[in-house]
Amino acid sequence: MLKINNLHAYYGESEIISGVNMQVDEGKVVCLLGRNGVGKSTLLKSIMGQVKTPVGTIDFNGSNIAKIAPHKRARAGIGYVPQGRDIFPQMTVLENLLLGLEVHGGKGKIEDRIFELFPVLKDMLGRKGGDLSGGQQQQLAIARALVANPKLLILDEPTEGIQPSIIQDIGRVITHLKQDGDMMIFLVEQYLEFALDIADYCYVMEKGEIVLDGAMGDIDIEEIKKRIAI
Ligand SMILES: Nc1ncnc2c1ncn2[C@@H]1O[C@H](COP(=O)(O)OP(=O)(O)O)[C@@H](O)[C@H]1O
Ligand SMILES: [Mg+2]
Repeated sequence: MLKINNLHAYYGESEIISGVNMQVDEGKVVCLLGRNGVGKSTLLKSIMGQVKTPVGTIDFNGSNIAKIAPHKRARAGIGYVPQGRDIFPQMTVLENLLLGLEVHGGKGKIEDRIFELFPVLKDMLGRKGGDLSGGQQQQLAIARALVANPKLLILDEPTEGIQPSIIQDIGRVITHLKQDGDMMIFLVEQYLEFALDIADYCYVMEKGEIVLDGAMGDIDIEEIKKRIAI
């Protein structure tokens, strides 16, 4: 389980996240929604240890990780796919995937399951990452995070700028992962329909604070729309 308590995060002197509380339970897909610039990516970076978090705790499977180094958080079982397609364009698809194993010191292998989830990658192992389409690069980025077998997968706007057919594929992968076992998925989205389709629970952020949250089915969709409308 991931449980964030009273988290504050800063860039320099500016407080971007102001007292956030949230929780992701085993086997659940949790979505964070909100307009541009409210601090969604910063919250994810706080979980990964990429921004200053002087106040608050981040409990992950029973221990507070708020002060440990980023690579230790990854090793503890958090897979993170940042916003934008963060793959290495000059490296092949296979080399990009092998980097995923570095989380565990290069040990282990790429399991067949990765190619069951992303069959398109199997045919492209020798291609340069940069030669893939935007959607394929996003799939590669997600696959690379999954290679390390994370307990929690964090995705920052995986549908951004991606063609509809691949958005559907990514939605199916998330649903599969959830059905497969006890993986937690924490997703930041601006594409509301996609989020509503796959999430079990939603949080809505404004100016670094959670202003609305609830389980799918309970939460007021019209209220979400108001809070994320431009
Ligand atoms: N590296 C950075 N240094 C300073 N300020 C930043 C940095 N990245 C983002 N910000 C600021 O933090 C705020 C939240 O940004 P971000 O978390 O990226 O928002 P979101 O993901 O919700 O669009 C914005 O005001 C943005 O300008
Ligand atoms: Mg963002």
